[in-house]
Amino acid sequence: MRAIVQHRYGGPEVLELAQVDAPVPADDEVLIRVRAVGVSIGDAFIMRGEPRAVRLAFGLTRPKRPTIGRDVAGEVEAVGAGVTRFSVGDAVYAESDQGGYAELVVAPERFVALRPTSVDAEHAAAVPVSGTTALQGLRLAGVAPGRHVLVNGASGGVGGFAVQLAKAMGAEVTGVCRTAKVEHVRSLGADHVVDYTAEDFTAGGRRYDVIFDLVADHSLRDLRRALAPRGTLVLSSGKGGKVFGPFGRIIRAFLASPFVSQHLRPLAASRNGDDLAELTRRIDAGDVTPVVDRVYPLERAGEAVARLESGEVRGKVVMTV
Ligand SMILES: NC(=O)c1ccc[n+]([C@@H]2O[C@H](COP(=O)([O-])OP(=O)(O)OC[C@H]3O[C@@H](n4cnc5c(N)ncnc54)[C@H](OP(=O)(O)O)[C@@H]3O)[C@@H](O)[C@H]2O)c1
Repeated sequence: MRAIVQHRYGGPEVLELAQVDAPVPADDEVLIRVRAVGVSIGDAFIMRGEPRAVRLAFGLTRPKRPTIGRDVAGEVEAVGAGVTRFSVGDAVYAESDQGGYAELVVAPERFVALRPTSVDAEHAAAVPVSGTTALQGLRLAGVAPGRHVLVNGASGGVGGFAVQLAKAMGAEVTGVCRTAKVEHVRSLGADHVVDYTAEDFTAGGRRYDVIFDLVADHSLRDLRRALAPRGTLVLSSGKGGKVFGPFGRIIRAFLASPFVSQHLRPLAASRNGDDLAELTRRIDAGDVTPVVDRVYPLERAGEAVARLESGEVRGKVVMTV
């Protein structure tokens, strides 16, 4: 089958189209014929091997596994002997384990869900990593009706879902983004939009019940100043430093947490088929609409990742297979 592979770390030029063996599903796995695959900032981290801490998991000097990509939408091609919830032909989506930029991919049944019927495969492929991270972050924050939630990084992949989901949960939502994306964030349903090039949301004296930080462009001290005395700060990292990435900041939040009245919560989102099923329900109910910025064919994977890294993206970049 055709798949994108990388044999070294580097820029978009390290992503090459190649012929590789098709995966074979284990007993608990579903084999998915991929129609569309989402591009996430995590893919760019693995492509570049940066922050360097990524290499501890993915290979110190070169990628241990050449394949890449997590967010897939397609149809079930075959199932392992122990799979009970899916049948050949089902329209599904999943977060796979680094094999998504390909014609076929396997995923354990527990990480797969039926995909929404109200959107096409390209929009469904925009959902798994970003939608699940947004949902898990808002849940960690205990978002409830009437609470004021600020999403820093509202125009990005995770942020777009976070704004829409927080609104659907009844929260008052403020999104933070650059000037060119203010209208986009408003169109997602944000009640207020802060243009960070003109205004620093931590400096105005306003306090939020929840801050969902997807950028890491403020110190913990500044973020806490903008947080209500019993508010919750969810840190979904940001790229952070070149070596340890976001980990230093997450450890500082963890250490400070027992000594302050505010709740400081690092988020380690994990793939979860039940959360994907909840996103399917919310998308089909009209609570959430996946936003696709641009669609590329698989063979232009390097351009797709470069687009994501450009800073111009509104929502998600997707590839068709
Ligand atoms: N904890 C987890 O398990 C988990 C899971 C998924 C993602 N993440 C992390 O969450 C972060 C967001 O992911 P994503 O997929 O949403 O990334 P993305 O699509 O690339 O979006 C990044 C966002 O950051 C904003 N941004 C960049 N520089 C900024 C600055 N100086 N000030 C304010 N905003 C700035 C951009 O907004 P503008 O374009 O408006 O500037 C953009 O909306 C990433 O760092 C990723 O690693 C963590």
